[in-house]
Amino acid sequence: MNGKLIVFEGGEGAGKTTQIENVYRWLQSCLQVSYTVKITREPGGTALGQEIRTLLLGNHTPSDRAELLLYAADRAQHVTQDLKPALTQGCIVLCDRYTDSTIAYQGYGRGIDLQLIAQLNEIATQGLESDLTLWLDVPAEIGLLRAQNRGKRDRIEQADLAFHQRVRQGFKFLAQQHPQRLHHIDAQPPESQVHQQICSVLKPVLQPYLK
Ligand code: TMP
Repeated sequence: MNGKLIVFEGGEGAGKTTQIENVYRWLQSCLQVSYTVKITREPGGTALGQEIRTLLLGNHTPSDRAELLLYAADRAQHVTQDLKPALTQGCIVLCDRYTDSTIAYQGYGRGIDLQLIAQLNEIATQGLESDLTLWLDVPAEIGLLRAQNRGKRDRIEQADLAFHQRVRQGFKFLAQQHPQRLHHIDAQPPESQVHQQICSVLKPVLQPYLK
């Protein structure tokens, strides 16, 4: 595939959405004209996925396995309908969450078997891995406070602190296991400093695409 899949991961309130928008603007200004950049997300990157997102984050109380399967269904649709075609066309795709979120939230957070999650991720992605994943890291207490200050919290944001601490631990293990692919970004400093950290990781990877 000609494009690049750049994934942004992190716990609640890590500032992914803001940072993705900042990277999008930065790339618009420095990408060669023949390349395009697009933003997408999981869950909810497709029309079907948007409905799955509403089911997942609304008022239902899915069992842990039902939750896992809904995230996998969202991903399977997203990969087939959106990610693979965009990457084949040479697009730089900025994706808000991907497979590591399932490992961190459903694996480390909920305690579902990691082997099972690896199998499901494989089925959903058909082997499509990110080229680079940026883990925007803030302590769970700080992230939850930020999410709370944003207003109404969704079902997963409402889970207890211990759950979110396990999720953060999950991302930490993943970063240790995959140092080439998964980069730790300290997301506590002001927005502009976090952006600088992200750009310094992205520049070498995206060099061939830049002016
Ligand atoms: P977002 O609000 O950051 O877009 O993410 C939606 C929520 O879904 C967030 O609480 C993390 C959670 N999530 C999982 O639990 N497993 C997954 O596989 C994904 C993609 C998201």
